[in-house]
Amino acid sequence: MVQIIRKDRLSSRVSKYISYKKKAVSKHKVHSPFVFDLIVDVFENENSYYSFPAVELIRKKLLLTKRTLTVEDMGAGSRVFKSNQRKIKDIVKYSAQKPKYAQLLFKLVNYYQPNTILELGTSLGLTTAYLAKARKKAKVYTFEGSPEIGEVAKNTFKSLLIKNAELVQGNFSETLPETLPKIAVLDFAFFDGNHQKKPTLEYFNQCLEKANEQSIFVFDDIHWSDEMTEAWEEIKKHPEVTLTIDIFQFGIVFFRKGVEKQHFVLNY
Ligand SMILES: C[S@@+](CC[C@H](N)C(=O)[O-])C[C@H]1O[C@@H](n2cnc3c(N)ncnc32)[C@H](O)[C@@H]1O
Repeated sequence: MVQIIRKDRLSSRVSKYISYKKKAVSKHKVHSPFVFDLIVDVFENENSYYSFPAVELIRKKLLLTKRTLTVEDMGAGSRVFKSNQRKIKDIVKYSAQKPKYAQLLFKLVNYYQPNTILELGTSLGLTTAYLAKARKKAKVYTFEGSPEIGEVAKNTFKSLLIKNAELVQGNFSETLPETLPKIAVLDFAFFDGNHQKKPTLEYFNQCLEKANEQSIFVFDDIHWSDEMTEAWEEIKKHPEVTLTIDIFQFGIVFFRKGVEKQHFVLNY
C-alpha cells in the first residue's frame, strides 16, 4: 500500500513536470520588461559569488557527519523519512534546497536588496546562510520547529560568521504570529516548510499583512502534491498578487501595483 501511494505520488509529480515543461517559455516569449530583466539579471546570472564555496563547504561537512538527530515533525511529513531518527547527511540530501535553488534565492536577494527576510523552515541553515550572506544589512528571521535541527543550524551560522540571522524555535503556527508584529515591512519571504494547503495559505495570509508592493514571496515545492498545487492556484488568484512566476520548484509572487495581473511559467 505504502509503495502504491508512493508510486502514485511520483507519477503525479512526473505528469505535473511534463505539463510544466509544455507551458514553460524562455525569455524570447516574455513581453513584460520587468520579467525579461529578472530573467537576464537573475535567472541567467552565472556569477559564482565568494559566499558560495563557503556555504558549500559546510554542506560537504554535514554530508560527512555520522550523527543522528531526533526530529519532531510538525509539517506535512516526509516522503523519505519514516522515523523520527534522522541522519544529518540524509537531512542535507533530502530536505535542504539544492545549490542551484539556494543560489537562485541568493541572487534574488542580491538583486532586490530586501531589508527584512523571513524563511519558514530553517532545517540545517544552509539556505538561511545564502539568504543572510546575500545581504548582510538585512535581518533574516528563520523558523524551525525541531530543536535538535535548530541547534545544528545555529552551528552553521557560527561557522560562517553569520550575524544577521535569528532562529525562531517552535511551531510556525505559534512563532509566526508572535514574530510578525516585530516586523514593519516584510520585503522577502521564503516558504519552505509544512507543505500542506491550509497552513500554506494561513502563512501566506499572515505574511501578506506585512507585505508592500515591493515585497517578494517565494513558495517552495508548489507542485509537490495536489494540495500544494491548489494552494498555489489560490495564491495566484489573490487580489493583492499581481505577477507570479512558476519555475516548477518555486513559485515566485510579486505585488507590484498598476500592472495587469499576469502569470508566467518559465524554463529554469
Ligand atoms: C524542507 S525543510 C527546510 C529546508 C531549508 N529551507 C533548506 O533549504 O535547507 C522544512 C523544515 O521545516 C520544519 N517544519 C515543518 N513544519 C513546521 C512547523 N509547522 N513548525 C515549525 N517547523 C516546521 C521542519 O522541521 C524542517 O526542518
